[in-house]
Amino acid sequence: MKKQIENRTDVEFLVHQFYAKIRTDKEIGFYFNTMIKDWDAHLDKLTDFWETNLFAVKKYKGNPNAVHNEVDARFDGKITSNEFGIWLNYWFQTLDEHFEGENVETLKRRARKMGTFLFVSMFEHRKKIGETSTEI
Ligand code: HEM
Repeated sequence: MKKQIENRTDVEFLVHQFYAKIRTDKEIGFYFNTMIKDWDAHLDKLTDFWETNLFAVKKYKGNPNAVHNEVDARFDGKITSNEFGIWLNYWFQTLDEHFEGENVETLKRRARKMGTFLFVSMFEHRKKIGETSTEI
């Protein structure tokens, strides 16, 4: 039976299940496997991030915009809306597979919104640093 997302343990489980899919994806797995050297630390950080996001605890400290601009630059400005679409599909799929309730909808909405911001920020950053790729 599916459960509600109630605490850090649930968020941690969600994050682990989600990245297990991401890491093995043929189209976007390599972005993560190239950039992330310490997966345990990454999974901990992302658990902090979503726990902070959902339960308003002060754990995650970071700048996702800057991080994604760096990732995009590392791959020559080639990340498109396709990558964000794949990411979001896995997020929705993982949430629906294991959980139900209001927090599922909240996490879908927040990831969708954040994906839009990250992508627009990447796009603007490319123009600023004079990259040639302007593909959306
Ligand atoms: C769609 C919504 C997305 C959300 C909400 C999201 C969220 C995050 C967050 C919170 C971090 C941790 C930032 C930090 O280190 O403080 C992160 C890291 C990362 N993200 Fe995303 N992300 C999204 C999409 C993507 C996409 C589409 C890609 C690549 C195609 C991507 C690649 C990465 C990589 C490689 C890292 C680790 C960077 C590093 O540690 O060197 N993300 N993401």
